[in-house]
Amino acid sequence: MICLGIESSCDETAVAIIKDGRKVLANVVSTQIPIHKKFGGVVPEIASRKHLTNIAFVVKEALDNAGLTFKDIDYIGVTYGPGLIGALLVGVAYAKSLAYALDIPIVPTHHIEGHIAANYLTYEELKPPFMALVVSGGHSHLIHVKDYVDFDILGKTRDDAVGEAFDKVARVLGLPYPGGPEVSKLAREGEFTYDLPKTKFENYDFSFSGIKTAVINIAHKEGEKLRRADLACSFEQTVTDELIENCMAAMKEYNITKVALAGGVSANLVLREKLQKACKERKYECFLPDLKYCTDNAAMIASAAHYNFVCGKKYDIKDKLDLNAIANLKIGE
Ligand code: KG4
Ligand code: ZN
Repeated sequence: MICLGIESSCDETAVAIIKDGRKVLANVVSTQIPIHKKFGGVVPEIASRKHLTNIAFVVKEALDNAGLTFKDIDYIGVTYGPGLIGALLVGVAYAKSLAYALDIPIVPTHHIEGHIAANYLTYEELKPPFMALVVSGGHSHLIHVKDYVDFDILGKTRDDAVGEAFDKVARVLGLPYPGGPEVSKLAREGEFTYDLPKTKFENYDFSFSGIKTAVINIAHKEGEKLRRADLACSFEQTVTDELIENCMAAMKEYNITKVALAGGVSANLVLREKLQKACKERKYECFLPDLKYCTDNAAMIASAAHYNFVCGKKYDIKDKLDLNAIANLKIGE
């Protein structure tokens, strides 16, 4: 079965073609980062307009790269939430018109379920159940992936997402958007010398606004004397420790011995190394998505769509043309 995946929830217009849920035939990502960089973050209206001008070209490039035509596509998987509503609508409207024109099914797909599925593209053998540590620009979740379409949220952030915290810290350190890779690069030149707060709740929730505010306060207080690289390093070390400690505690309680990292922040090398080390110490299996599938792409969406399709996931819509984008779509819906 050949699936054409479409992702347009934020600032990447992405289209991929994959076979049987795991074999990537084409994966095209047209990023808008250089455009939004000037504004220090994503401007939603600009993002929607760029998706609109890009999408048909990105689809054509994906088909050309795979050596296929529209006739070869069996169904379409599209991100319908969560994300920026105007941006999502471009992908959803395109997917609906293409599915109508080709008379093929459309499989609405959750963006975070896509990030989790990035691991299926990297590890042929990976099957649920496992724990997913989801760390993206908009989400931080601990999810028990009980089956391909059965998710149990064990914890989530009560305020900022971890990627969002990286982006805000980058801004206060004078680094460009997106901040995660920049903070990480600067951190490599520094040492863990600033004492920053970690949050612990009675359940497995996260919170990153306290550490973000602490970083901002230190930067303002120290001014010229600020040791920027040390602060970047201390921030990276503290947030990654919080993520790993929470994840390991949840795995122990729920008796889960496999963990997969997911979302844009899974490209963070410190987090990847710490998760691997923590798993090795406990004899857990650790799955890290290939770097090209960490940040937003459509191959992961097509993979998640495949499992929605083969598992016969039910949606609350009568006809594919009734599909709408949902900005705050909950996982598992
Ligand atoms: O998953 P993603 O591409 O978009 C959302 O679904 O939100 O994640 C983007 C986020 C941004 O906040 C970016 O700063 C962060 O992922 N990010 C990183 C790294 N690469 C991307 N954060 C830390 N270290 C990285 N290497
Ligand atoms: Zn994402």
